Amino acid sequence: MKSILAVIGARPNIIKMAPVIRSLKTAGARLKIVHTGQHYGKALSSDIFQNLQLPKPDINFKIGSGSHAHQISECMKKFESFCLKEKPGLVIVSGDVNSTLACSLVASRLEIPLIHIESGLRSFDPSMPEETNRILTDHLSNLLFVTEASGIKNLKKEGISTKKIHFVGNTMIDSLKETLKKSLALKPWKKFNLTPNNYIVVTLHRPSNVDNIKNFKLIISALNTVQKKYDIIFPVHPRTQKNLVKIKKSKIIFSPPLDYLHFLGLIAKASLIVTDSGGIQEETLALKIPCLTIRENTERPITITCNSNTLVKLNKNKIISQIKKKLNVKKRTIAAAPKWDGRAHQRITRIIKLKFQDLFKKIR
Ligand code: UD1
Repeated sequence: MKSILAVIGARPNIIKMAPVIRSLKTAGARLKIVHTGQHYGKALSSDIFQNLQLPKPDINFKIGSGSHAHQISECMKKFESFCLKEKPGLVIVSGDVNSTLACSLVASRLEIPLIHIESGLRSFDPSMPEETNRILTDHLSNLLFVTEASGIKNLKKEGISTKKIHFVGNTMIDSLKETLKKSLALKPWKKFNLTPNNYIVVTLHRPSNVDNIKNFKLIISALNTVQKKYDIIFPVHPRTQKNLVKIKKSKIIFSPPLDYLHFLGLIAKASLIVTDSGGIQEETLALKIPCLTIRENTERPITITCNSNTLVKLNKNKIISQIKKKLNVKKRTIAAAPKWDGRAHQRITRIIKLKFQDLFKKIR
């Protein structure tokens, strides 16, 4: 029986893929986890595997950090030689990171059926590498699993056949629903002397916000103003760490990246999240926690229409005034997103099983 390869590259891929991996294995698939090594180390990789009780990857290409061309080309070469040996019956990728695109290109060229989890999201901002990664991956895929209605609309507009598109919900929220109780039991806010429902969590890692030191200083300066009234905790992504040393004075609590369990517990009891992450916009919607996103656009419009998320431009006064406004948003005014019910992985497994029966053991 041929194998199914589940590709993981960066931290969010682990969270999106975990429920699908478990569910496909239970259904009788010979599933192998391929880690490209784009993210590595405890905080961004092995701790998250442990948190989600995933077995170690079957192979790790250890491509590591570097330019986009370095990551994509290394990943393609290594994935191609692995696929030539393994001869899988199916490749599954998720999200929009460089590893997603690289492995999709390889699967497509080797004529291995390809599935994309989290299809159809569009920021319409070609300057984001994630946007090209998403578009190309979608156009290479044979089956496209969509998290929100905007995804279906975008894919149809781009001429992708509706037969390939399935609105299944959000596997990142499956992981959240499964893990939340454990996360809250850890009381991660205690370690930082924070009071539940009385602190702000900040995460930033987009190059436009953190690599450009002028922009990064502007955001920190806005946060410093807010900090006079509210506690702020900021778990720092490795990309962001590089410029953090240039920040002189701040009473913000800066911490190393947290593992998934601690981070989820921390945001679940926050009053507000300020971020530029895609996944956190979704997690805050599921948790009904207000979210302020420091970006010009979002590929996840459902977070806006359900009233959890607001976009803000790089403007100090606007950031400060929006934070104050968002702190007054009531949980009950935030709506639930359709199909974000913790069962996306079941829908995905049912569809895969139906279309690729040969890849599953006959369970009597
Ligand atoms: C990548 C994704 C981004 C995603 C993010 C999630 C791309 C183009 N970007 O961004 O879409 O939202 O992951 O976190 O694929 N580093 C470490 N340890 C690691 C990984 C990275 O120290 O395990 C440092 C390195 O100095 C590296 C920098 O972080 O140069 C950036 O890492 P990289 O994988 O290039 O992109 P991210 O910013 O993490």
